[in-house]
Amino acid sequence: MKVEFSAFPKAFSGNVAVFVGAEKKLQASAKAIDGALGGAVMRAIEAGRFTGAKNQTLSVLGQKGFSRLLLLGIGKDAELDARAAEALGGLVAGDANAAGQKAVTVVVDAPKGGTVTPAALAAHIALGAQLRSYRFDKYKTKEKPEQKNALERLTVVVGSPADAKKAYAALEPVIDSVFFTRDLVSEPANVLYPAEFARRAKALTKVGLKVEVLGEAEMKKRGLNVLLAVGQGSVRESQLLVMSWMNGPKNQAPVALIGKGVTFDTGGISLKPAGGMEDMKWDMGGAGAVTGAMRLLAARKAKANVIGICALVENMPDGNATRPGDVVKSLSGQTVEIINTDAEGRLILCDAMWYAQERYKPQAMVELSTLTGAIIVALGHERAGLFSNDTPLATNLRKAGAEIGEKLWRMPLGPKYDKLIDSDIADMKNVGGGRDGGSITAAQFLQRFVKDGVAWAHLDIAGMAWSSKGNDTTPKGATAYGVRLLDRLIADNYEK
Ligand code: BES
Ligand code: MN
Ligand code: ZN
Repeated sequence: MKVEFSAFPKAFSGNVAVFVGAEKKLQASAKAIDGALGGAVMRAIEAGRFTGAKNQTLSVLGQKGFSRLLLLGIGKDAELDARAAEALGGLVAGDANAAGQKAVTVVVDAPKGGTVTPAALAAHIALGAQLRSYRFDKYKTKEKPEQKNALERLTVVVGSPADAKKAYAALEPVIDSVFFTRDLVSEPANVLYPAEFARRAKALTKVGLKVEVLGEAEMKKRGLNVLLAVGQGSVRESQLLVMSWMNGPKNQAPVALIGKGVTFDTGGISLKPAGGMEDMKWDMGGAGAVTGAMRLLAARKAKANVIGICALVENMPDGNATRPGDVVKSLSGQTVEIINTDAEGRLILCDAMWYAQERYKPQAMVELSTLTGAIIVALGHERAGLFSNDTPLATNLRKAGAEIGEKLWRMPLGPKYDKLIDSDIADMKNVGGGRDGGSITAAQFLQRFVKDGVAWAHLDIAGMAWSSKGNDTTPKGATAYGVRLLDRLIADNYEK
């Protein structure tokens, strides 16, 4: 979809979307159109329950030169911020695609008490429209034109088009990076296995990332045995993906971003039931988010030192697969009794985290994983679970999430939970306590691999990486949750 910004025209034509504030307050353009149409807009409003509340829409038949008028509820003046603008852009794109419109014009009549400039509103409307228009249709060979996205051109009318264009240019890397991650997460596991994921990450050298990939032989030599134990039942080679973006002050310790990249999780010998198992193609959503965030940091030339490390494996049952009860020595030297081969995420992450700390001495380490079904039971699909040993880091993450619209909820850790994963024959076991507190015992396992003095956070994104319904700025499917959150965390706290 092409995006243009233009100044206010003498008269509107085509499909036009205009703002209406709370309590049926027509903004300037809506009012002018109402006048030109002899009060038809107000009559349409009075005939139904549209009040101009945030995210309400009402479609009115066009007359006198334009084809269709879409009223966009912007709510109270102060409610119209960047996130709300993205939602409006998403609504417009969704509406245009559903109605089969090729072009639409959105008119930005910024409310007086707004918190962002008209140019920023315009840019975020365009961003929202783009994010909503994502499609993963490469495997559809028989799609009819009416099943494809109709919208080809979005024109955003604003008093300061040059500023809006500039603001939008600064946001374009967000679109590319979110789409990059959504593609990774959407791909089926026969196409996207560890080496293919690594290959796509290697292509990011073109945006300026340094990318290294360790194969099984290198990992074996170094002792990442627990990670390797998860992948040993698969014919696909496990990979450790190491990306770096060191554009900050020379002596500043980096932030390490760690991602769970299980390209398919069958559960291994502790095999999952058949129902819904296809969902486990997106068990690499954490690695997808970390890779997309690294891409975004590089594309916008962030002034920070950031390392991205993804543990990439396929969890399969096989004659060579890890058995329940096997004991394996981790890179940290601690031994792990693998009770349940379906609790594999924590296994690959413990070695990836240790590797990151040994090699890069990070000041902070943020890890993202589709780790437990239990976090979905606790928080549903509205918030990711946040576990941390460091309250300032946890607060910064929560703030970044609230600002960008990728929300988090802090969960507890503690010695009583930790005790549940003590093993009779090894230093720890990979499950404990039955299903009770399942996302917490998983986090406790990870915490045993955090070195003293490292601020650490674990984000359990199992409920967030995939959306079965979609929302204003995300069609159903892969969300790329975490890409913008991590980017905002770095921007707000590590770039100075
Ligand atoms: N990848 C799953 C967690 C998951 C479940 C992600 C549903 C997204 C949607 C993880 O590897 C897993 O299997 N976890 C088990 C842990 C259990 C065996 C202790 C779980 O949550 O059931
Ligand atoms: Mn599993
Ligand atoms: Zn998994």
